[in-house]
Amino acid sequence: MNKKQIENLLSQMTLDEKIDQLLQLAAAFYSDTAEEKTGPMSELELTQEAINNAGTTLGVSGAKEAKRVQDQYLKNNRLNIPLILMADIIHGFRTIFPIPLALGCSFDPTVAEAVASISALEASVSGLHVTFSPMVDLVRDPRWGRVLESTGEDSFLNATLAAAFVKGYQGDDLKNDLTKIAACVKHFAAYGAPIGGRDYNTVNMSERELRQNYLPGYKAAIDAGAKLVMTSFNLIDGIPATANRWLLRDVLRNEFGFKGVVISDWGAVKETIPHGVSATEKEAARLALVSGVDIEMMTSCYNHSLEELIKEGIISEELVDESVLRILTLKNDLGLFENPYRGANEERESETILSVDHRKAARDIAKRSIVLLKNNNILPLQANDKVAIVGPGASSNDVLGAWSWQGKQEESVSLADGAKKCSKNVVIGKEKFDYFEPSEKAIEEAISLAHQSEKVVLALGEPEWMSGEAASRSDIRLPKAQIGLFKAIKSVNQNVIVTTYNGRPLDLSDVDEAEAIIVAWFPGTEAGNALADVLWGSFNPSARLSMSFPESVGQVPIYYNVNNTGRPYESAPNEKYVSKYLDCSNYAKYPFGFGLSYTSYDYNNMELSQNRMNKDETILVSITVQNVGKMAGEETVQLYLQDIVAEVARPVKELKAFKKVWLEPSESKKVTFEIDEKLLRYVHSDKTARSDDGQFKVMIGGNSRDLLEKVFDYRN
Ligand code: BGC
Ligand code: BGC
Repeated sequence: MNKKQIENLLSQMTLDEKIDQLLQLAAAFYSDTAEEKTGPMSELELTQEAINNAGTTLGVSGAKEAKRVQDQYLKNNRLNIPLILMADIIHGFRTIFPIPLALGCSFDPTVAEAVASISALEASVSGLHVTFSPMVDLVRDPRWGRVLESTGEDSFLNATLAAAFVKGYQGDDLKNDLTKIAACVKHFAAYGAPIGGRDYNTVNMSERELRQNYLPGYKAAIDAGAKLVMTSFNLIDGIPATANRWLLRDVLRNEFGFKGVVISDWGAVKETIPHGVSATEKEAARLALVSGVDIEMMTSCYNHSLEELIKEGIISEELVDESVLRILTLKNDLGLFENPYRGANEERESETILSVDHRKAARDIAKRSIVLLKNNNILPLQANDKVAIVGPGASSNDVLGAWSWQGKQEESVSLADGAKKCSKNVVIGKEKFDYFEPSEKAIEEAISLAHQSEKVVLALGEPEWMSGEAASRSDIRLPKAQIGLFKAIKSVNQNVIVTTYNGRPLDLSDVDEAEAIIVAWFPGTEAGNALADVLWGSFNPSARLSMSFPESVGQVPIYYNVNNTGRPYESAPNEKYVSKYLDCSNYAKYPFGFGLSYTSYDYNNMELSQNRMNKDETILVSITVQNVGKMAGEETVQLYLQDIVAEVARPVKELKAFKKVWLEPSESKKVTFEIDEKLLRYVHSDKTARSDDGQFKVMIGGNSRDLLEKVFDYRN
């Protein structure tokens, strides 16, 4: 359909039909089994007609079911307007990839694009049209359980990966390419900064900070063409994002030029009542619609009140029309008017989902996301090393991580299974090992196996439910039983290699004495294979932390791009009156951008093509990186900048570019970056982004801490 035809369709719709388009309900409403239906239906007090005509759904899946629901919908819909099927496909559909925080550690947009593209393929064939991804909330507080859904603490890395996700999901021709699905970037905005890391808590930051660090991720996804934006649960300067006209109309629509659909997060329209900015459902409906929310997810304020609000002249019907038009346009962009089943295909479904190729990609990508934090020359393991694999993670299939809806643990590979393929010399405990309260027998067995072996892989961490939505923690250390286990194992065998499954950065001080530490995150379906590839060295680890690991939770929030303060510790480390703690350092234990490999890289000969630059010029910064170890590997060369004196105090460093280079042993390569005026811009006190004249420090290295530096001068 063209624009005229869509407008024409809109003009034939009754007000009721239009209002129903703005309602989104979960799969249970469309289930053909009665028990599933009753709970949510009675709570929302919707008429059967509203349910039948609600314009979009959430969480229906499977080609057969998707077709059934669409058929039933079209049967009821007077104007033959098709239904959109949306769902949370966050890090894979059935083939589960590492959690997004781990994908961030790949520092590789091709990884994000591949994950999104395979997710789209599996989801589309199962009848889905839209995913509620990418989640690009910037995160600095590991207490927050949802850090796992983000790609980390840096806005440049987030923005780079956000664009890649959108490209992977949507491709270049969403309408005709049935293997693609539409992307919904979320949670707009700043949901990743709840005070104290407690989920849904207040966010409080300046507009300048919001624009500088938090908005670029969403903006990048929108510029890449994301069709939808989801609002966040939190307040933005006292006003809920879901009722925030400034955020949704002035910034999102007018400034960013977003033309797509805005959807509320689950229940967020009605939550403006407990937030304390609306007294009734009717007021909540008015506020959200006027602010620019098109679809109300899983509450019925719009459905109950919009008609009345229009009749009373409080809002105009044009506002509803505007939202309906956007939803119809999305339906048209998805090609649903021509083909309401879209990619749903029962025959292709079974051969596509969890295919050999997809599992291969999942293994490859998991390897690229696993971070080696410490290694006292004990890794990689040799095939003839006698290795015990013990601890709660050893035989666990709890490796998928939160938001792996269609993922099945029984289809995943445990570390034990992966390890057995790498070596015949592994012994694995038979007792079931609980993460919190392991049985005496399980502990004894682990200690005895450790005692008899040369090396021990102690698999620790968090089970899935400990991170994700509504899973904040105030203590981010390993569970007590695991710390006790570490000590007991260490007392019988010094060669302990700790691996962790985790959805957030942890305080790992309790296992500091390990000879090696590997952070596996939640690696997904191919977990055990990928982790074993890293442990036995058939893959040389290359991932870098997308989020800092603190020394202790007391340092949180902790992130690399801090301001200097007026009394920087570094200027006078022995002075009392400087910015520091009495009982821990200012620094992350393992900083952003950090990660080891089985080789090491030297950085030399940093050169600038010139040390002065004006507006139309560029400076080339080059550096020679050499592999000085024995194994070939991939290094992530990172470039940071500091604006030394500026109108607004700027961080001591900010990531501006990175490049991945493959280096054979002894090989060296010259890596060159180009600096132009755009890279020097930042958000000024007047909220506009531009650059200032003056001196800039440019830093290059393999992580955010260990950097070579030079200074140049910029004049406009
Ligand atoms: C989450 C969103 C998600 C939505 C739909 C909400 O609780 O915050 O991230 O997309 O549910 O499942
Ligand atoms: C303190 C002030 C104090 C001043 C003079 C500073 O270091 O921050 O509170 O008044 O010293 O003693």
